[in-house]
Amino acid sequence: MLPARSQFPDGFVFGAATSSYQIEGHGFGGAGRTHWDDFAETPGNVVRAETGARACDHYHRWPQDLDLIRDANLDAYRFSASWARVLPEGRGVPNPDGLDFYDRLVDGMLERGLKPALTLYHWELPSPLADLGGWRNRDIAGWFADYAEILCRRIGDRIWSAAPINEPWCVAWLSHFLGLHAPGLRDIRATARAMHHVLLAHGRAIQAMRALGMPNLGAVCNLEWADPADASPEAALAASRYDAIYNRWFLGGIFRGEYPEPALAGLLPHMPPGWQDDMATIATPVDWCGLNYYTRKLIGPDPSPWPHLAEVEGPLPKTQMGWEIYPQGLENFLLRTEAEYSRGLPIYITENGMASGEAPVVDETVDDPERTDYLSLHLAAARRAIDRGVNLQGYFIWSLLDNYEWSLGYEKRFGLVHVDFDGLKRTPKSSYHALKRALSRNG
Ligand code: FCB
Repeated sequence: MLPARSQFPDGFVFGAATSSYQIEGHGFGGAGRTHWDDFAETPGNVVRAETGARACDHYHRWPQDLDLIRDANLDAYRFSASWARVLPEGRGVPNPDGLDFYDRLVDGMLERGLKPALTLYHWELPSPLADLGGWRNRDIAGWFADYAEILCRRIGDRIWSAAPINEPWCVAWLSHFLGLHAPGLRDIRATARAMHHVLLAHGRAIQAMRALGMPNLGAVCNLEWADPADASPEAALAASRYDAIYNRWFLGGIFRGEYPEPALAGLLPHMPPGWQDDMATIATPVDWCGLNYYTRKLIGPDPSPWPHLAEVEGPLPKTQMGWEIYPQGLENFLLRTEAEYSRGLPIYITENGMASGEAPVVDETVDDPERTDYLSLHLAAARRAIDRGVNLQGYFIWSLLDNYEWSLGYEKRFGLVHVDFDGLKRTPKSSYHALKRALSRNG
């Protein structure tokens, strides 16, 4: 059962999260082409070659979607703006319809009593910027800061919180080293540059938003707990290398102005010249730290080139993604982040949730007890961390709606609300109803 709101400190913020490309319908409203459109149109990259062209048609159905958030008794909505919707070419002339859309959306949140939690970039890089090298090109930090300024001049006065970049690990490593997300590169030199430029862009955007007087600016990193696959010293070293690349690189850059040695050991020869001079910009002070958490990995050594890592299948129950359910990892990360990185700043869990397979709509709902269980276990871990002194101030569920799960297309369903991708009807699942009861203020 989900813990009641009253079991959390006063003012604790409960929210739901989504992202622009995954729900809006990128084909609507004059948005420019993105590297996700290019990636998806290349055979073999995305399940059934699906794109976000229509997605959940949130672009037209947003009033109904905001009603769903309010009616779940949630307090906040973490959404993202699409760079290519605001600036179809990535730079230059804004798309008036794009700015109007986010303006209306933010007003719609405020009218419903929801706190707008903005993310500036959740992965849909405008293709014209990809042509110029995208995250490999140092100039992206300036292009991104300009986009931040253009968008936030319009909506920044009504934003409750803002973070520049969702999950820099995914932007850099997953997309340039593992090749699993757009632009689908597998190249260590490109990776090193993306790992650095994504953080430089973060710092520059924080500065741009500060200059506009916006409050409550933060960073959102995804963390994955790494346990050694066995008791050998080699496995312990491999797990700590994985941890350095995945978790410590980004938190280290943003909160300490330094990169962890086990990751630098492999990336140093490929770093852009003068990178050390950027660390102060990267570590521009922020007001809070956001953690996205889903799972852990078992890591062992591998004879392949650096980083010499092998993932080993773990024994725990798994979600539809094949991800082990491991709430202890969330508690561990909250304690470690408080002690080593955020050091007293508010922490928010900015994403947590699970995918389950397609289940039938029966009697106007979908039964998903496994999602309620997953959320309960992770909220309990969050509660334990608070009891142990972590300054955790909120929790956002990924996701409001079933949506476009990137290279896995529409197959993986993360929503509290079921979406029928033929007619686009929304049907709240049993987890939605459980959440609504748990968050009720008078029950
Ligand atoms: C996170 C992403 C989000 C979604 C979930 C499942 O890494 O931020 O867009 O893909 O995972």
